[in-house]
Amino acid sequence: MQKDGCAACHGIDKKIVGPAYVDVAAKYKGDAGAQAKLAQKIKAGGAGVWGQVPMPPNPQVPDDDIKALVSWILALKK
Ligand code: HEC
Repeated sequence: MQKDGCAACHGIDKKIVGPAYVDVAAKYKGDAGAQAKLAQKIKAGGAGVWGQVPMPPNPQVPDDDIKALVSWILALKK
C-alpha cells in the first residue's frame, strides 16, 4: 500500500483525504460482495460513499496488488 501511493490519502486508523481503512473494514464487515466491489472501486475511482471527495482511478496498480490490498483492508479491526 505504501508503494501504490494509497497512503497519501488513506491512513490505517485515521482519515486523511479518504476514509481510514479500519472504517472501511467496519463498513463492509459481513458483506460477501465487498471484495469485488472494492477492487472495482479502487481501479476505477469514484465518490459518494464517504463524502463528496472522489478517489481518483488507480489503473497503474496491478490486479494482484489490488486483490491483496482489499483482503488486507477487510481483515483490519479497530
Ligand atoms: C487522491 C487520494 C486517494 C488515493 C491516492 C487513494 N484513495 Fe482510496 N479513497 C479516496 C477517497 C476520497 C475515498 C472516498 C470515496 C467515496 O466517498 O466514495 C476513497 C475510498 C476508498 C475505499 C472505500 C471505497 C468504498 O466504496 O467504500 C477503499 C477501499 C480505498 N479508497 C482504497 C484505496 C487504495 C487501495 C488505494 C491505492 C491503490 C487508494 N485508495 C488510493 C482517496 C484516495
